[in-house]
Amino acid sequence: MLRVDRLSKSFATPDGMTQAVKGIGFEVAEGEFYTLVGPSGCGKTTTLRCIAGLERPSGGAITIADVTVDEPDAGVHVPSHLRDIGMVFQSYAIWPHLNVFENVAYPLRVTKPAPVKSEIEQRVMDSLQLVGMGDLARRSATKLSGGQQQRVALARALVRKPKLLLLDEPLSNLDAKLREQMRVELEEMVARVGLTTIYVTHDQAEALSMSDRVAVMSEGLIAQEGSPRDVYARPSTQFVASFLGVANVLTGIVGGPDTVVLDDGAGRLSVPLSNGFETGARIRVVVRPEDIEIRADGADGADNCIAGRLERVVFEGAQSECFIRAKDYRIRVRVHQATDAREGDDIWLRILPDRCVVFHQDGN
Ligand SMILES: Nc1ncnc2c1ncn2[C@@H]1O[C@H](COP(=O)(O)OP(=O)(O)OP(=O)(O)O)[C@@H](O)[C@H]1O
Ligand SMILES: [Mg+2]
Repeated sequence: MLRVDRLSKSFATPDGMTQAVKGIGFEVAEGEFYTLVGPSGCGKTTTLRCIAGLERPSGGAITIADVTVDEPDAGVHVPSHLRDIGMVFQSYAIWPHLNVFENVAYPLRVTKPAPVKSEIEQRVMDSLQLVGMGDLARRSATKLSGGQQQRVALARALVRKPKLLLLDEPLSNLDAKLREQMRVELEEMVARVGLTTIYVTHDQAEALSMSDRVAVMSEGLIAQEGSPRDVYARPSTQFVASFLGVANVLTGIVGGPDTVVLDDGAGRLSVPLSNGFETGARIRVVVRPEDIEIRADGADGADNCIAGRLERVVFEGAQSECFIRAKDYRIRVRVHQATDAREGDDIWLRILPDRCVVFHQDGN
């Protein structure tokens, strides 16, 4: 459905050229929900604007539904309005002088030739129904909540039944609670229409919860691509691990086959190591807060157990975040049940070995 091939984009700035996108490639299948996620400035919006035809790539090629819409080397550039796409951006720009119906009807009215009146009526109402705004068609656009405006923007993007839906941080103007609710709704809506969607966000929770596949971007490149579960559980770099969630990082050396000796005598881990890790190599072990258990009784010296002191328990309702001091480490552990342990207690941490991800110390 969409193919992005060695896409690059440079901008001229007063300090010289900056390369916002450095030759990235990905493919998105029909009906797939694909997310570009990464920190501010990593090139997500630039990539999306190239796909939309709002920015001309410096190199590479973009193909939508088997039609090459950009290939600078071959002099190909199909203008934005001739690409079959719908878009919603962060500032969703609902027109205040138009009511809800007219906001959604706008893209149809400027289509040449414009559909007949009854068809416009039908398609606008279908779109509004889809986003749960059918009852508010005659409401003035200025008298809508943030979530309702967001839905109108989405209805407007869907009204022409585009092949491809491009969404750039569409939820970032909403408050936290509404954002979480709209996340689910939005994903269900596009799934119902079976629309191929490219979603851009810097919010890892959005990316992980909504997408079929995600591409984690860093400095103009894709650091890792895969299903949300895969990239979360098997990050290929420490950057990906830390960006997608809290990551405890322990340091040590390889003590032998599948054995890690942590620095400062903090303990030993028995973790699966691939062939690339030779005895004596300095490594970092990344483990998520939900992959560590807190135990009261001493499994003294046992592998995968580390002695520590519970410094702080932060109650968060359904779960608690515990901060444990173990030698030089401050380790975060997430527990779901109420824990009996109290701040100041000496406790043991058991690290779930098959959840550990090991990197070379000098890697990234
Ligand atoms: N028109 C432009 N002129 C010059 N530099 C630009 C332009 N647009 C983007 N850039 C630069 O390109 C890089 C990537 O920008 P981009 O907007 O794609 O980032 P982003 O990943 O969308 O970030 P954010 O999460 O903050 O929206 C940044 O360094 C940015 O400053
Ligand atoms: Mg952006």
